[in-house]
Amino acid sequence: MSDLLKKIADATDYISSRSGIRPVAGIILGSGLGGLVSDIADRTEIPYGDIPHFPVSTVEGHHGRLILGTMKGRPVVAMAGRFHYYEGFSMQQVTFPIRVMKALGIETLLISNAAGGMNAAFSVGDLMIIRDHINLQPEHPLRGPNDDRLGPRFPDMSEPYSKALIAKAGEIAAAANIAVHTGVYVGVQGPTFETRAEYKFMHIIGGDAVGMSTVPEVIVAVHAGLKVFAMSVITDIGIREEENVITHEEVLQAASAAEPKLTHIFRELIESI
Ligand code: HPA
Repeated sequence: MSDLLKKIADATDYISSRSGIRPVAGIILGSGLGGLVSDIADRTEIPYGDIPHFPVSTVEGHHGRLILGTMKGRPVVAMAGRFHYYEGFSMQQVTFPIRVMKALGIETLLISNAAGGMNAAFSVGDLMIIRDHINLQPEHPLRGPNDDRLGPRFPDMSEPYSKALIAKAGEIAAAANIAVHTGVYVGVQGPTFETRAEYKFMHIIGGDAVGMSTVPEVIVAVHAGLKVFAMSVITDIGIREEENVITHEEVLQAASAAEPKLTHIFRELIESI
């Protein structure tokens, strides 16, 4: 057994010893977006520090625990807090939980994040369904020898985000009168927010929102054969001169304010799968 497969098995065995839930879907909750946790019934919460080989996250606003339970009757696993490359973790550490959730049995992964807006039509607090991404992170999570038992050497990335889930989320949002944009997410390393010139550049190359997470998780999820849905909460607007000072507090506050809308869409999506 390869080292990675052994680590995945250790983590999965431990989690299965703590909860009888066999999740069909995984959910990653971004900064300030942890409110969905209270929707999970009969939950078991496992601090990341208890799980073999799991990194422990450091950023304020990230609670750092894995939650297993049911949502609308469906068995789910949720990550409250995620790992970012800028924290100093390797890409293998950043994406290790995706491997573990796959081994626990999930087939679908729902991802949320806070992101900076670069589309003139966006306002703070808006939601954006990610329809595609541009990877500007400096390292690739699949770099190195490939273990064919985990996925192919050269994964296709022509449709990383499930068209069916995007369509369903659009219907759910419309039925609830929630406005949603659809757009392209640019993944960067951070931890600096972007300069004005960088926001402009990323918009010119086709980006609508920018953030410091998600892309490595999506790549590994696609490698593992998972169906992926991802949504950004626009927490700041980088392209407007007068609004260009961005703080982490502002990001968390805007994310929390928009969180009920995102939670509604995720809850209904879970019910539909
Ligand atoms: N840039 C990068 N990451 C972010 C931003 C941003 O403007 N807002 C929230 N996360």
